[in-house]
Amino acid sequence: MEITGKTKIMFVLADPIDHVRASAVMNAYFASIGDDLAVSPIHVLPGDLGQAVASIRLMRNVFGFGVTIPHKTCVIEHLDEITPTAQLIGAVNFVKRTAEGRLVGDNLDARGFTASLAQHEVAVRGRKVLQVGAGGAGRATAFGLAEAGAGELTIMNRDDGKAHALAAAVAAHYPATKVSAGRAEARSFDLIVNTTSLGMKPDDPLPVDIEGVGAGATVSDIIVNPAVTRLLARAAAQGARVIGGRPMLDAQMALVARFIAR
Ligand code: ATR
Repeated sequence: MEITGKTKIMFVLADPIDHVRASAVMNAYFASIGDDLAVSPIHVLPGDLGQAVASIRLMRNVFGFGVTIPHKTCVIEHLDEITPTAQLIGAVNFVKRTAEGRLVGDNLDARGFTASLAQHEVAVRGRKVLQVGAGGAGRATAFGLAEAGAGELTIMNRDDGKAHALAAAVAAHYPATKVSAGRAEARSFDLIVNTTSLGMKPDDPLPVDIEGVGAGATVSDIIVNPAVTRLLARAAAQGARVIGGRPMLDAQMALVARFIAR
């Protein structure tokens, strides 16, 4: 790739930086659509986030930036505007820099997640969904699942209070979805989604017991690396359909391209 003065520049802000995959996925996507755009990961410590964002505001060839752990929530106070979706989720994962230097944050995780399910022909509308985890990523997927018309959504999390708070927030916005929080048997659900970090390390325990989950059910794990978590390997061995985290990232690429377009 040749980066010139005409190239549109984007960043991905993160700390730590080693795990960042989004920049490579974005570079490959923009190259594939013939867009002259280059993305670089930038290692920014939490205490420096405000100054880093203020500097980007001055960089006229920067079209936007991705935000990942641990900046997704803290970045909001440094932006000029966030979309209603980002407001609802309480986190931003992409920021566009307008030609005038305004910084607008959006959260594409929810739409990326449900778009990846749709692309893999996993139905959500009217289905019973069990979501494990209620952290930042879990907030996005829960709102996404309700928006996509899930019939029932049960949120299970180690910190039960967070699961209840998320369930209440989703229920308030999506009265058509029956939302609840607490422990549940995975086998009675059509779709089981892991949004916890359990599965990133090889010796992690399974985030949820999937005994009895087999053909007819889908198990989704939003972890990107490894591509096949222990949960997915077990689910596949039991005959369930499985979908990993990479499609969720891939599905966001077209959304990013549209979002940052001037
Ligand atoms: P992210 O932005 O990636 O979602 P996060 O907001 O820190 O990160 O959320 C991590 C999720 O993984 C949470 O649901 C967390 O559970 P708690 O809310 O109880 O902390 C879950 N998680 C992380 N480590 C876990 C563990 N060892 N056992 C069970 N759940 C875990």
